[in-house]
Amino acid sequence: MTTQTAPVTVTITGAGGQIGYALLFRIAAGGMLGPDRPVRLRLLEIPQGMRAAEGAALELQDCAFPLLHGVEVTDSAAVAFDGANIAMLVGSRPRGPGMERGDLLAANAGIFAPQGAAIAEAAADDIRVVVVGNPANTNALIAAASADGVPSDRFSALTRLDHNRAVGQLAGFLEVGPGEIADVIIWGNHSATQFPDVAHGILADRRPILDALAERLGGAEAARMWLDEVFIPRVAKRGAEIIEVRGSSSVASAANAAIEHVRDERLGTRRGSTSAAVVSRGEYGVPEGLVCSFPVVSRGDGAGYRIIEGLTFDAAARARFDASVAELVAERDAVRELGVL
Ligand SMILES: NC(=O)c1ccc[n+]([C@@H]2O[C@H](COP(=O)([O-])OP(=O)(O)OC[C@H]3O[C@@H](n4cnc5c(N)ncnc54)[C@H](O)[C@@H]3O)[C@@H](O)[C@H]2O)c1
Repeated sequence: MTTQTAPVTVTITGAGGQIGYALLFRIAAGGMLGPDRPVRLRLLEIPQGMRAAEGAALELQDCAFPLLHGVEVTDSAAVAFDGANIAMLVGSRPRGPGMERGDLLAANAGIFAPQGAAIAEAAADDIRVVVVGNPANTNALIAAASADGVPSDRFSALTRLDHNRAVGQLAGFLEVGPGEIADVIIWGNHSATQFPDVAHGILADRRPILDALAERLGGAEAARMWLDEVFIPRVAKRGAEIIEVRGSSSVASAANAAIEHVRDERLGTRRGSTSAAVVSRGEYGVPEGLVCSFPVVSRGDGAGYRIIEGLTFDAAARARFDASVAELVAERDAVRELGVL
């Protein structure tokens, strides 16, 4: 295929890891930015991860993807983010045995603050950043706060995997295709406190998902119980379920979600809204500056995700959302105590 358009530079941190390996080949094949858009890949790793990233770069070369206009592997953030249009921050410090939340946040602040600063220093003017590495919301907050001069709305964190998990559960239960389900929402933190909300969700024939659940379960009360006792915990704890069954954390589904997050942000959401953790400007009473998951749409015009406002909650839903926001506030305050913000 011949293309005339300018290549987009995509920087992936933690590129030698599992999610990195699942991301690189789809991006290089055009699965994220479309079949006409050439890409340049920059793979950032720490020294211990360099060989794995270099090996992936060799394999990328062996795929001879027509859209791939070069791969660079580096352990220098300044080199990795130089001219970057899109940054996918995947590499982070996992929680080790006996590690408290404060230790985890401190270790990740040591990664995401310098990366935010390097993005401010070196990235292209149109840079957009998605944080995948956990704790993703607060890592995005740290990176945004450290990127002097870069508008904070360029930073987001991944809750698309949670969104897709919610859609997958509903599709399975209602025996419809996932593509028929729209306007499901993940509110809050990418953690077990998240609130997967179907109150505004609809099916392809515009029937409310709540009505379809009530029909299947024999009434609205039974539907509410299923949501509270089965659906919400299943979605919120799906990561742990995958680890238990697979013996390893979610990889391909996480990479798929990261690709869909960037694709929709850049090229536009298709039918209805999706979920992404973006910087709050006070929407729905969420304290300004927190990186919180909301229902979002993108027109694909370069302006990124826009939060859908004006949706209503019942008391139980509001309490669930507030609990997740409280966790985000506690994480932000713990980071402030470290002197990072
Ligand atoms: N938000 C989500 O939905 C979601 C879903 C799944 C996984 N995750 C998170 O994604 C992250 C990556 O998962 P994985 O399975 O690929 O892990 P992994 O351990 O296989 O890979 C992580 C890679 O990051 C590298 N790395 C560590 N610190 C780095 C730094 N400062 N700069 C550059 N690279 C660095 C490591 O060397 C490693 O190669 C984890 O934090 C995981 O919890 C998030």
